[in-house]
Amino acid sequence: MKTARPFVLINMAMSADGKIAPPHRRFVAFGSRHDHKNLLALRTTADAVMCGARTVDSALVTLDAGGAVYERQRLRAGLARQNLRVVVSGSGSVDPGAKIFHHTVSPLIVLASGQAPKSRLAKLAHFADCVKVCGKNSVALGQALGWLRREWAVNRLLCEGGGELNFELLRLGLVDELHLTICPRIIGGRDAPTIADGKGFARLAKAANLTLSRQRRIGDELFTTWCVRPESR
Ligand SMILES: NC(=O)c1ccc[n+]([C@@H]2O[C@H](COP(=O)([O-])OP(=O)(O)OC[C@H]3O[C@@H](n4cnc5c(N)ncnc54)[C@H](OP(=O)(O)O)[C@@H]3O)[C@@H](O)[C@H]2O)c1
Repeated sequence: MKTARPFVLINMAMSADGKIAPPHRRFVAFGSRHDHKNLLALRTTADAVMCGARTVDSALVTLDAGGAVYERQRLRAGLARQNLRVVVSGSGSVDPGAKIFHHTVSPLIVLASGQAPKSRLAKLAHFADCVKVCGKNSVALGQALGWLRREWAVNRLLCEGGGELNFELLRLGLVDELHLTICPRIIGGRDAPTIADGKGFARLAKAANLTLSRQRRIGDELFTTWCVRPESR
């Protein structure tokens, strides 16, 4: 029997050539204010917001609800005032000095694996509300999502990248919906991250298949929503 897991959405802004950051991989806000509002609006629908360790290291990420207006929307929808925050860091390499660990608006969970040295986990436990080891060599994401649902009542989880974490979720068939803002720029660079990196699918037969369910144009940006087809989940 499959473990019950939350409904999982991914939200990313990408350039017209599919990049999510320049080759130096530091965070650059290349989306418009509409894209930022869209990101915060999506957060108001989620019990938890999650991202990978390199995303936390690359920017002043806090993953919070985004201010009083959004907090009120959450309360009206019957959600907690602030969403839970989740960072995936299999080896525990995420920087405990990163802003998210010092912005204490809501519980912060770190998902790690048996690969993480105990000393790193202890350091992270000092700043996070919970450090959960799930899996031996990498974070067993399916198991971790089941745990989030059971122990933290996460019914809807929004993943905000980066490319490596997104790919693992897609590879394991754990994504239900993809929100992609296509921004009117070419960033280029073979080393620039994309929305799904990692090892990639070796055969097209294994690729995640999508159905376009919504599209909206604001200025030169295209806001798209894709359902991950059931056979890819
Ligand atoms: N445009 C956008 O919307 C957007 C959004 C987010 C991020 N970004 C950009 O994306 C880049 C970061 O993406 P990225 O692909 O390099 O990294 P990432 O996905 O943010 O983080 C990768 C790290 O997450 C951990 N991880 C992910 N899946 C795991 C698994 N199954 N098991 C164990 N650990 C796992 C590992 O941490 P450990 O090394 O600790 O094991 C891995 O090194 C940055 O340039 C950022 O600015 C852009």
